[in-house]
Amino acid sequence: MKKRKYLAPFVAVLASLSLVACGSGSDSDSTNEGETTSGSDSTDSGEVFKLQAGHSLPEDHPYEKAFQKLAETVEERTDGQIVIETFPSSQIGAERELTEGLTFGTVDLVVSSTAPVTNFVPELGVLDLPFLFNDREAAVEVLEGEIGQGLFSSLSEQGIIGLSWGENGFRHITNSERPINSPSDLEGLTIRTQENEFHLAAFEMLGASPSPMAWTEALTALQQGVVKGQENPAIVADQFDLYNANQEHMTLTGHVYSVAIFMLSQDTYDKLPEDLREILVEEGQNIGSYQRDLIVEMEQESLNKLAEQGMQIIEDIDVEPFRSAISDVYDRFEYQELLQQILDAQQ
Ligand code: PAF
Repeated sequence: MKKRKYLAPFVAVLASLSLVACGSGSDSDSTNEGETTSGSDSTDSGEVFKLQAGHSLPEDHPYEKAFQKLAETVEERTDGQIVIETFPSSQIGAERELTEGLTFGTVDLVVSSTAPVTNFVPELGVLDLPFLFNDREAAVEVLEGEIGQGLFSSLSEQGIIGLSWGENGFRHITNSERPINSPSDLEGLTIRTQENEFHLAAFEMLGASPSPMAWTEALTALQQGVVKGQENPAIVADQFDLYNANQEHMTLTGHVYSVAIFMLSQDTYDKLPEDLREILVEEGQNIGSYQRDLIVEMEQESLNKLAEQGMQIIEDIDVEPFRSAISDVYDRFEYQELLQQILDAQQ
């Protein structure tokens, strides 16, 4: 088994592509070609840096609300020298593309669930192992501690700075066919999963027929009946009106605590003057907990709305048979020491 050490995040130096720096007071889109005040102080430079922040969820989702708050506080604290423009609803790419954009420096800021980020940083896959966390509090403690810092270090090796940990709630199963009360009800069910090897393997072990795809394709697939089910937190089912995409039954399996990461491109960071960088990172570190609180507030509201729209919500569910059916998926995770650390931290 591969062993990892957990180090404080470090800052790698890479070239920058995406960030747009404008002349004093200007908001034109002229790219600054190599004449930024990178690393130095911004005082009196008068440059305005326009950053793009992308994610996959709608405007009333806490991902967007958190980015709006970040934009506001950063613009205020930098006297307008950093302007953050937000792009919700996958407007500039789905989560996997957005993450890739961070590594190339073509996107500045992203909040994404961890599942697609795992394709770039395999250590993060631990967070997508089903039934990993005892509850939300345990998850937050792990993420906000040394283990979370270690995962941010792994992220930084790919040219991405982890700012803070957010969440989207616990993932539950919905489908058009039948109530799911036990793994046998999943037998042969075509279900959209995220593009993540552990989600895929877990649903195979449960007897379903999983089909991994980006969220941008999932809605059409559900509407057209290409897949009969999906799994996501309640807020996603609510904000995307999944009851209008044939989803009649929802079972609160809570099989994955859907961790989200607020990320900054290293390229972008490198282009910013020192004082502006500090403000951006500092405020970015604050938005995770703000965003998590919003999810907690909105979760029950979403479940109520789904029930009002006629979705059958199965709350009283014995998850043990699901947990035991997928237990072998843990063996597939390469970084066993890391997994053990997370399990031990919850004893
Ligand atoms: O299922 C997914 O792909 C994700 O949960 C979503 C909806 C894009 C939110 O991060």
